[in-house]
Amino acid sequence: MTAKDLKNKFFQYFQSQGHELISAASLIPDNDPTVLFTTAGMHPLVPYLLGEKHPHGQRLVSVQKCVRTSDIDEVGDNVHHTFFEMLGNWSLGNYFKKEAIEYSWEFLTKILRLDKEKIAVSIFGGNENLPDYDAQSEKYWLALGVKPERIAKITDNWWGPAGTTGPCGPDTEMFYWTGNAAAPAKFDPEDNQWVEIWNDVLMQYNKTATGQFESLKQKNIDTGMGLERTLAVLNGYDDNYLTELFQPIIKAIEKLSGKKYETDKKSFRIIADHIRTAVFMSGDRKGITPSNKDQGYVLRRIIRRAIRFGKALGLEQNFTSQLAEVIIKDYKTDYPELEKNEKFILEELIKEENKFRNTLSKGLKQFEKLVASKKLNEKTAFDLYTSYGFPLEITLELAQEAGLNLSKEKYQAEFQKHQDLSRTASAGMFKGGLADDKDNTKRHHTAAHLMLQALRMVLGDGVEQKGSNINEERIRFDFAYPDKLTPEQIKLAEDIVNEQIDKKLPVTWQEMTLAEAKKYGALGSFEHKYGEKVRVYTMGDFSKEICGGPHVDNTSELGHFKISKEESSSAGVRRIKAILEK
Ligand code: ALA
Repeated sequence: MTAKDLKNKFFQYFQSQGHELISAASLIPDNDPTVLFTTAGMHPLVPYLLGEKHPHGQRLVSVQKCVRTSDIDEVGDNVHHTFFEMLGNWSLGNYFKKEAIEYSWEFLTKILRLDKEKIAVSIFGGNENLPDYDAQSEKYWLALGVKPERIAKITDNWWGPAGTTGPCGPDTEMFYWTGNAAAPAKFDPEDNQWVEIWNDVLMQYNKTATGQFESLKQKNIDTGMGLERTLAVLNGYDDNYLTELFQPIIKAIEKLSGKKYETDKKSFRIIADHIRTAVFMSGDRKGITPSNKDQGYVLRRIIRRAIRFGKALGLEQNFTSQLAEVIIKDYKTDYPELEKNEKFILEELIKEENKFRNTLSKGLKQFEKLVASKKLNEKTAFDLYTSYGFPLEITLELAQEAGLNLSKEKYQAEFQKHQDLSRTASAGMFKGGLADDKDNTKRHHTAAHLMLQALRMVLGDGVEQKGSNINEERIRFDFAYPDKLTPEQIKLAEDIVNEQIDKKLPVTWQEMTLAEAKKYGALGSFEHKYGEKVRVYTMGDFSKEICGGPHVDNTSELGHFKISKEESSSAGVRRIKAILEK
């Protein structure tokens, strides 16, 4: 079966069940500032899942281009991608669990004629928010003939929200056995020969800015089927890169490098995946250019990563734009924007590749000088990184080729030293962020914890503290975030903090190891070395943060919180000044 057949069958099946085909949205979300990319087919539908009326009715179907950078470290295996196409059907307050499960089953077994004996499913097993497992979904699967041992109850079977807030709910996922041996009678979700191909989300909650789960006005269905994975299993492959979606790219890499896919699958896969993602990012109607910020930064990283893996295949000349041409040719029928933006895509790739190769060659010259003068060691290798952006992997590789083994640990120790130095410098400047031990300072310090958590709720988990200077008069607080805050965002953050003050939350602390603190979900910089034990401050169930203190004992002691100023501090870092009014 071809990708085109699979898409058509999906559309036709759901159209025959009363769904309207809608067109795909941009890769950059229109109305969600908390995420960089469209990560799922439901993303553009958020307002409608929350209750707004959709112009095409309550039953929809589509294929959506998606980017998930969270999967980047998995790319290189047989089934993960940074870019993929997601087929989906939606019920906006129309049908719910029973029909969704029946449609999925019918489509998989009757339309795609997948072997029932190789299908397994997972259902929501209950968690601390919602203790009951999803017995209804279990009942519907059993009624369709799925055996009890092929149904796994999983605590994590919960999807969403896509950003920080929004619609979400328990889900039920479908898996297909891809192993060579017969499918085992019992489904083991940990065994990766069972590949997840489809997810039905039973969307009935809205996660609010304060982390509460409210019941939605309407019950929705949101499903997502991975096109690449499903196409692979339909054609009997246990590797998405063997499908027609990737083969032309793999073949082109073989031709350019003179190497065979089988000899270094990981490098082939990473290059194919990343350049495909890069083409879709810069070819999007909101075309992205490589930069040091936001989407542009992600694009830069994946292009550079592809070039680095190209080196492993001996690709020393520009190759990314040649692969892009292959990709555009393959995808332009379904995605005409790629053809329209072809010139732009190719130019951006060439520019970025030139820039990176230039960095590499400058670093290389310096490297050779160090070797010739016998000055290469972990420290000078680290300087190569700080002064030229010369990647560690390449330094280590070249050193090995030159018969000089550098220790990765020692190199990292240099990195740590560098971090410690800059931290000591800023600690000296801000006296650890805290100017003194007076009551007002403690109050401001306590409020700063609430504010950090509130900012993460409003702006997303990318918000990280970069520095602070707190005294009797005010909080000055720097955090990583690319854009100016809107008045609405400021107001929302203030409201959240004041809500926690009104709740009179007790402020408590516990000592634990860094690993325990991480497990506990405390905020703090885990890359840095703290002492053996750290202190974690907890305020109700709102804020958990590693900190040395001191703080007040209860949030009711804080008064009224107000953000008095918001401005840029440096590139990618915002600065807030805030006060507590009596
Ligand atoms: N939104 C759901 C997912 O991405 C379907 O898995």
